[in-house]
Amino acid sequence: MQRCVDSAKFNFKIFPPFVIKQYIIITESKLTHRGNNLDKIGIIGLGNMGEAILKSLLKNNIQKEHMVCSEAKTERADFIEKTYNIKITKNPEKLTGQAKYIVLAIKPQDSKELMKDIAKHLNDSTVLISIMAGVTISNITAAIGKPVKIIRIMPNICVKVGEGIMGLTCNNLVENNELDEVRRFMTPLGKIIEIGEELMNAVTAMGGSGPAFFLLFLEAMIDAGVKMGIPRDKSKMLSFQVVRGTLKMLEEEGLHPTILKEMVVSPGGTTISGLAHLEEKAFKGNIIKAVEKAAKRAKELSL
Ligand SMILES: NC(=O)c1ccc[n+]([C@@H]2O[C@H](COP(=O)([O-])OP(=O)(O)OC[C@H]3O[C@@H](n4cnc5c(N)ncnc54)[C@H](OP(=O)(O)O)[C@@H]3O)[C@@H](O)[C@H]2O)c1
Repeated sequence: MQRCVDSAKFNFKIFPPFVIKQYIIITESKLTHRGNNLDKIGIIGLGNMGEAILKSLLKNNIQKEHMVCSEAKTERADFIEKTYNIKITKNPEKLTGQAKYIVLAIKPQDSKELMKDIAKHLNDSTVLISIMAGVTISNITAAIGKPVKIIRIMPNICVKVGEGIMGLTCNNLVENNELDEVRRFMTPLGKIIEIGEELMNAVTAMGGSGPAFFLLFLEAMIDAGVKMGIPRDKSKMLSFQVVRGTLKMLEEEGLHPTILKEMVVSPGGTTISGLAHLEEKAFKGNIIKAVEKAAKRAKELSL
């Protein structure tokens, strides 16, 4: 099921290389079944994110035989081999001949060296999928030294539980069918927002840093309960359920947050007293500023 625009019909190729317009598409479809005639998927770097992707792919019917993985750290490679019963190579070049899709899940600072190592082994049909924060499509192309199909995905920590949000953009060498394939195997990790690369820092600020902003608010709610005498565990349960219930209302009733908020605010009541205080302290303005600051920092940290 897709919300907003039908991403399958969206033509990325109308844009010249690396000039990607602003557009947003949210993909919600969940992968449930895959055929046998699959192109192989490779993952380079089996750290936190690489493991989360591997785990999700295996859980969602991608056979081990369709996966090729590389990890530099011996203990980490041993752990992944044992946990997932999958063969790991130390040599990332080995993946390039075998996998059509290669997920780059190494640290940004390791990217240049890796690109140099794998460049000569890449063929025209290889699709690189980079999840490296701050590494742009043109950074990768420059490091490889030749045109190559690149999809850039910016995930957040919640991919670990299949509820992540991922900003996705690509260059114009990527075919629509390849993009479809990547959408299919990445959607079990969460929702995908297809977006122009110039908005990737904003996605990083909202999706990547967003959980921390939101958690600060949640922490404050729990502390407020404790301050008023509610035991911490009960205050936590109460706050969690408020969030869970609110989100469910928004989703199931299809409500805009402003409408739902107005449903809770009665004239002269309790909620408006609290809201008025938050407005006085420019709560909304400060949240907007915080997200903008995070986006600015993401840009500064870009390679
Ligand atoms: N964690 C997040 O929430 C998050 C969110 C969005 C995006 N990302 C991006 O995801 C990427 C991975 O992050 P992470 O937290 O998973 O990092 P991580 O835990 O450090 O995992 C990276 C792994 O790749 C290994 N590695 C490095 N160079 C390699 C090579 N040439 N071949 C094979 N393996 C290699 C590293 O080994 P060594 O330690 O020995 O180098 C490490 O075990 C980063 O680029 C990050 O920007 C992360």
